[in-house]
Amino acid sequence: MVCEGNKKSYLKTQNFKIIGQNSLRGEVKISGAKNSALVLLAASLLTDEKIILDNVPLLTDIEKMGNILENLGVNLQTKNHKLIIDSTNISIKELPYELVNGLRASFFCIGALLARFGEASIPLPGGCNIGKRPINEHITGLKALGAKIIIEKEIVKAKLVGKKSRLFGANIRLNCPSVGATETLIMAASLAEGRTVIENAAREPEIQDLCHMLNKMGAKIYDSGKEKIIIDGVKKLHGCSHKVIPDRIEAGTFLIAAAATSSSITVSPVIPNHLEAVLNKLEESGSKITKKGNSISIKGNNIKAVNVKTAPFPGFPTDLQAPFMALMTIAKGKSKISETIFENRMNHVELLNQMGSSITLKNNVAYIKGVNKLKGTTLAGSDLRSSAALVIAALVSTKVSHIYGLEHLDRGYENFELKLSQLGAEITRETTKQVTSQSEYDCDNLNKKGFAEIKVA
Ligand code: EPZ
Repeated sequence: MVCEGNKKSYLKTQNFKIIGQNSLRGEVKISGAKNSALVLLAASLLTDEKIILDNVPLLTDIEKMGNILENLGVNLQTKNHKLIIDSTNISIKELPYELVNGLRASFFCIGALLARFGEASIPLPGGCNIGKRPINEHITGLKALGAKIIIEKEIVKAKLVGKKSRLFGANIRLNCPSVGATETLIMAASLAEGRTVIENAAREPEIQDLCHMLNKMGAKIYDSGKEKIIIDGVKKLHGCSHKVIPDRIEAGTFLIAAAATSSSITVSPVIPNHLEAVLNKLEESGSKITKKGNSISIKGNNIKAVNVKTAPFPGFPTDLQAPFMALMTIAKGKSKISETIFENRMNHVELLNQMGSSITLKNNVAYIKGVNKLKGTTLAGSDLRSSAALVIAALVSTKVSHIYGLEHLDRGYENFELKLSQLGAEITRETTKQVTSQSEYDCDNLNKKGFAEIKVA
C-alpha cells in the first residue's frame, strides 16, 4: 500500500484546472460504493476464511482501510477492483493513531474484532471538518452486548466481561439512526450468543449491502433496511464472494452536475431506489429523469429553486447537500437548504460565494438567491463533498477555475476528472510547481480568513 504521508502532501500540490460552460453528454460508469466497501472490509475480520470483494472503488480511503487491515496482519491481494482478504492470521494490537485518525470508518472494526477475538483496541476517531463525529452510540450498544469498555489516552479498549467467551444478544435502541453505530453493532451481534434487536437503526443501502454479505457468510440477519433489525448470533462465519453496490453518492453527484450544465447524461450502474429523494428534487427543480433498469438518464433544463432538508435514508442524503447547493446557486428564485445531520457541514457556502453565489447562512440553514452566472476562481475545498460542490460550480462558471483539495476528492471519487472529461468537461489535473506555505493552503485557515485566492508561486 502507498505511504500516506507523501501521497497526501503530494496531492496538496495538485488542482483541477476547469474551463467552465461546456455541456456534458454520454454515459458515465459509476464505481462501487465507498461507504459500503469500507464497512465490508471491516466485516471481513469476522471470519478466518477468505473474502473476495468485487467492484471495490479505487480510492484513497480504501487504500487507508487496506493499510489498517494489513497492520492487523491481514493478507490483502488487490487486483484492480477486486480485493482478496485473508484474515486467518491476525494478531490483535493497537492500531496506530495516524492510521485511524485519518479514516473514521476504521473505528467500525471494533465490533468485528471484539466479536471474533473477545477484545479490541482502537484509537478514538478524530472529529473532522464536518463535525465532532462522536461514538457514544457505538459504545453504549457494545456495552449492552456484554463488552467492558474503557477509554484511556484516546484509545478505546473493549473486551468481554469476566470469563465470557462471546458477546450476548440484547435489545438496543439507538438515540439517533447512526450509520456507523448500526454497522458496528450488526457486526458485533452477528457472532453473539442469542438474539439482538436494534431499534431506530439506520436504513442506508450500505447497511443493507453489509447485511447481504454477512448473510452470505452464514449470519442470520433479518429486516436490514428497516428501522428494526433482528440478528440471531451464530458461532462462526465463513468466507464468501461479494460485489459492492454502486455508489449512489457518486451517481447523484454526476446527475447534479448534468442538471447544473443543462446537459443530458446517463449514469450506470446504479440502483434507482437508492436515490429516490434526490431524483424527486431534481425533477421538482425542472430536470427530466428517466429510470431504466440499472441506469438513470437526466436532461437538465432551466433550473428552478427548490428547498431541501437532509435526513437519514430514505430522506435526502447529507452527502449530496453540498453538490445540490452548487446547483441551487444558479437556479431561478430563492431556495433553502437545511443540514440536519452534521453540525458543521456548510464550509462550501463561503467558497461558493467567492465564485459569485448569493448565499446567507444561519443556524445550519443556507438561504440561496439564484444568480445568472458564477465566475471561475482559485479555491480549495475543505472536505470531500464540499470539494465536489466547487467542481460543479466551476463547470458552470465563466473563466477558468483552479480547484485545490484533491486530497479530499480522491477519497471518494474514482477518476473524477477522467469521467468528467469523457462527458465533455474541460478539466485537467495540474501539479503546481509549488504551493505557498502550508498555512496559506490549509483549508481551515482558508475558511477562517475567508481567504479564497491561493497565491500560487
Ligand atoms: C456515515 O458516517 C458515512 N461514512 C458518512 O459519509 C455519511 O455522511 C454519514 O454516515 C451519514 O449518512 C461512512 O459510511 C464511512 P453517522 P457516520 O454515525 O457513520 C451522530 C462521506 O462523505 N452520532 O450516521 O460517521 C453524528 O454526530 C461521509 O462519504 C452520534 O451522535 O455517520 C452525526 O450528527 C461523510 N453518536 C449523526 O449521528 C454516535 O455514536 C450521523 O452520524 C454516532 C453518530
